[in-house]
Amino acid sequence: MCGIVGYVGKKDGVDILLDGLSSLEYRGYDSAGIMTLNNTRGNNELEGISICKTKGRVDNLAKNAKQMGIVGNVGIGHTRWATHGEPSDVNSHPHLDSTNTIGVVHNGIIENYLDLKDSLLKKGYHFLSQTDTEVIPNLIKDYCNQTGDFVDATIKATAELKGSYALAVVDKDNPDEMIVTKKDSPLVIGEGEGEFFIASDIPALLKHTNKVYILEDNEFAKITPDNIVFFDEAKKRIEKKYKEIDWSAEAAQKGGYEDFMLKEIFEQPTAIRKTIGNRLDKDNLIAELGITPEYIKSIEKIYIVACGTAMNAGLSGRKIIEKLLKIPTEVDIASEFRYREPLITEKTLVITISQSGETADTLAALRLAKKSNAKTLTITNTIGSTISREADFVMYTQAGPEIAVASTKAYNTQLVAMYCLAIAFAKALNLDYNDLDKELESISNKIEIALQKVDNIKDIAKQMYNAHDMFFLGRGNDFPVAQEGSLKLKEISYIHSEAYAAGELKHGPIALIEKDTFVVCIVTDNTLLDKSLSNIQEVKTRGAKVVLITDQKVDKKYYDYLIEVPQCSSIISPMLTVVPAQLLAYYIAKDKELDVDKPRNLAKSVTVE
Ligand code: G6P
Repeated sequence: MCGIVGYVGKKDGVDILLDGLSSLEYRGYDSAGIMTLNNTRGNNELEGISICKTKGRVDNLAKNAKQMGIVGNVGIGHTRWATHGEPSDVNSHPHLDSTNTIGVVHNGIIENYLDLKDSLLKKGYHFLSQTDTEVIPNLIKDYCNQTGDFVDATIKATAELKGSYALAVVDKDNPDEMIVTKKDSPLVIGEGEGEFFIASDIPALLKHTNKVYILEDNEFAKITPDNIVFFDEAKKRIEKKYKEIDWSAEAAQKGGYEDFMLKEIFEQPTAIRKTIGNRLDKDNLIAELGITPEYIKSIEKIYIVACGTAMNAGLSGRKIIEKLLKIPTEVDIASEFRYREPLITEKTLVITISQSGETADTLAALRLAKKSNAKTLTITNTIGSTISREADFVMYTQAGPEIAVASTKAYNTQLVAMYCLAIAFAKALNLDYNDLDKELESISNKIEIALQKVDNIKDIAKQMYNAHDMFFLGRGNDFPVAQEGSLKLKEISYIHSEAYAAGELKHGPIALIEKDTFVVCIVTDNTLLDKSLSNIQEVKTRGAKVVLITDQKVDKKYYDYLIEVPQCSSIISPMLTVVPAQLLAYYIAKDKELDVDKPRNLAKSVTVE
């Protein structure tokens, strides 16, 4: 987790660093800091280095940095999600070595930091923070003393690190350069005119440039205002070309909406249309993936592996794969999958789903699958992400940048990607796909209609926001939506909520239903309608207040609040029914006056185990 930024140029980089940190705040926001070199002014008590670090949000940091009047042509910055050491000024990055010469920002975890710290302490280095990161500048300084060369020292120091890292390193003795490197944490470099920008993700660069270099594991870059040189651990030069990114800078702004989350909910119809593109025509998707019908025929088992919301998307994916392709499919939480010795053979296809393409557990699951000789297919939103580079087949969702921590449009594009995949595989195998391709083409229009009902949802949220507990129920295709709706509510409103398969409620959790407990029921499958209504009756009898999300005609006696969506084939209905569930969570959180885009304790990209 954590976001890192850097600037190497000829102008003052402070505003650029602060702005970059604001757009990376989704990665962590319990403390932040910046440090500048070269033509610095401000608190120059460290001779040539200006540093400002503070507990709390980037806004706080910006205020303090302005008060100090910090400037500088080369700088690094960090927004933190604490792992080692509580959020505090002293634990905030950047960290300096004991002689205040080498400055470092770090995203990741150094697993062997205690051993390294021990040997550095014996050599006389001292430490101010409880972080794992502080060993890095000290180790680099130690190697600088031995080799006299900043680049050699950084290479030697990183060779000793175990764990994950994206690093931006500066040296007071080389004030117009920066070295960056990474392993298992993301780092991208944007190229401008006589300046370079460093960040943990692409959207943070888009205001300045769309020419982006994506650093691979164990690669280094030495950056000066007019030049960038890439090399490996043996200092051998690497030729790298930048990618031109076609996301616009506006896509990463709020565009008139109160919050990113609301904007992203409303962007879903467009994001889905873009993700479908022309993938459903002929054999376009199969060709794009480079998969043959023979290979599809050979698949005996599919695992879908992901975390959080992406895993919920996988639950709906399994339903359509099993229905159309009749291939046994299991969905697993990546952090469980990687340690449970799953039964993978070369006839297994492992599908990973990840918005960021960087989630540590999902990446580990993918690597495990590859080690077991399975083919891997990934559905991701992030071009050039680690998972996209390592998977055998990659299908990009076209959600554009998703900034709010709680995922909405990324989830829905993951769903549509799974549906397109299942249909494309079915076509390749000459199996029936029940005209689902046509249904998919019209789903965005239906979502647009559902979005028009926003006032109804706002009113319902006003009745619900004081609740302490809620339940979400669904059967069949509606159950994964209940899970996703419940997760959204927990994430941003901090209301305790449970999702249950409606038929399972009576095997225990119904004991928790009291007078006025809110139960959100999702009902789209008319073959299960009677059964769902019986389950609703069970909770109503016990005093629950039912909020019904449905495309069916249902008698008033079954609900207290009704949210209607247009009629839709049940198998793809999760794309539609999730929208009111997202809006409900959003407006409940707004009524509670919470920060919906940056919920407490959460980070969008979880690059640690
Ligand atoms: C975090 C985020 C979730 C996300 C999950 C998986 O927990 O807060 O919104 O669903 O990670 O992220 P990924 O990038 O792999 O989809």
